[in-house]
Amino acid sequence: MDFLPPDRSYPSGFGLHRCHFDDQAQAELIKTVQKAVTVAPWFQPTMPRTGQPLSVRMSNFGPLGWVADHKGYRYQVHHPETGAPWPPIPDLLLEAWHALTGCAVPPDCCLINWYQGTAKMGLHVDKDEADYAFPVVSVSLGDDAVFVLGQTMRKGPYRRMMVKSGDVCVLAGAARLRYHGVDRIVPGSNPIIPGGGRWNLTLRRARPAP
Ligand code: SIN
Ligand code: MN
Repeated sequence: MDFLPPDRSYPSGFGLHRCHFDDQAQAELIKTVQKAVTVAPWFQPTMPRTGQPLSVRMSNFGPLGWVADHKGYRYQVHHPETGAPWPPIPDLLLEAWHALTGCAVPPDCCLINWYQGTAKMGLHVDKDEADYAFPVVSVSLGDDAVFVLGQTMRKGPYRRMMVKSGDVCVLAGAARLRYHGVDRIVPGSNPIIPGGGRWNLTLRRARPAP
């Protein structure tokens, strides 16, 4: 389900790297996430104004983690429930960031989203970071999902593409501030995640360059 123009090109700055992680690398990443959530357990983020829970559960790797609650959307150094620091970003993900973006400055956050059943992610722009010159790199594991890529304004047109386990999306340059989201996952399409569903690992640089 790639709704692409006839030349199949992606918009400038956007990349969809199919099967960047092979089966072995996916298995390693899954193990690393399982280990991470023993120290940084899944939490349920909520919308700041309404208190409405998001349909995904979250955790993070990195010096900073992204959280959402009644105080707002933000990055913080500690888990919102345990107060402990987040586990480090796995080398496999740091390598993918450098290989796919050429960015020498490392990411300082990797948000982990867990989609199950009807969970989705509304259209949004990643804009809680200090410097939008840094890219966003987003890894899919487990079930297939319909990823939606819009424009830099909320109004469409939108492009929908099926992202699969091992695929990596890059939003950089002119695509960095594009609206994007996940319409739905296809439950049971790739049952490699313990507990089922889809994990999305999103790498970002939240702080300015060192
Ligand atoms: C996000 O933009 O935070 C998540 C995107 C995805 O799950 O693919
Ligand atoms: Mn995002």
